[in-house]
Amino acid sequence: MGLMKHHFLWLLVVIAALWLRPETALAQDTAVVPDFRHMKIDNPASLSDAGALAIYSQIQVELAKTFARSGLRIVNGYTSWQIYNRTPYLSSTHGDRYVNNFANNLADGYDSLKKGSKMQAGAVFAKDGFAVTKDGEVLPGRLFVMEKLAEGANPDTGDWRYISIENDGSIIGDSMNDPQNIMAFCHICHKVRASRDFLFYVPPSQRLP
Ligand code: HEC
Repeated sequence: MGLMKHHFLWLLVVIAALWLRPETALAQDTAVVPDFRHMKIDNPASLSDAGALAIYSQIQVELAKTFARSGLRIVNGYTSWQIYNRTPYLSSTHGDRYVNNFANNLADGYDSLKKGSKMQAGAVFAKDGFAVTKDGEVLPGRLFVMEKLAEGANPDTGDWRYISIENDGSIIGDSMNDPQNIMAFCHICHKVRASRDFLFYVPPSQRLP
């Protein structure tokens, strides 16, 4: 009887926990990203290419909607631009997120960068993605943006503008209006590729045929 009672109490605790949990999760989601679906996966440590793609295809619409709320017109409709990677891949340089590389139709030559390559003004690159926590929770990532400005517009950054949009649609930083230099680190790293107009392109294993 003692054991039965014990079990019964635990059952109550579990029911209470299940009852409360979705509500808290929902409340958090509403505060941060209104439409974002709460997702969990089973083996967070080992996302296969197919697994990463499956998650991304479920959250892409929400991600795009969220970033559209930033009002940043240059990335409007970025999910319909050319994508240059096969599946989302882990990028340690962009917050350990599974990321994609999209580029608009002015980004001629992105897939054939060589010494001396230069993008034309108006070329825009957008890198969206998501993170997966140790518990398997899927979290929307930020949108990392590079825009090629008119020649001479900003010689310090090779005429590139760097922008980060938070996963709630707010603009975290914009190198064109950056009194505290919080975006400088983007270009500092991208400078490694100065000879190729500061662009890296996608890792070889992720390139499209
Ligand atoms: C420590 C180095 C590093 C930092 C810091 C960094 N990047 Fe990158 N970036 C890369 C690498 C490497 C790639 C290509 C591989 C990948 O996607 O991870 C890349 C790719 C990109 C691309 C796709 C265009 C390309 O170069 O092929 C965009 C857009 C981008 N980064 C934006 C940003 C923005 C915005 C920031 C700052 C908020 C930033 N990056 C900070 C290393 C960096």
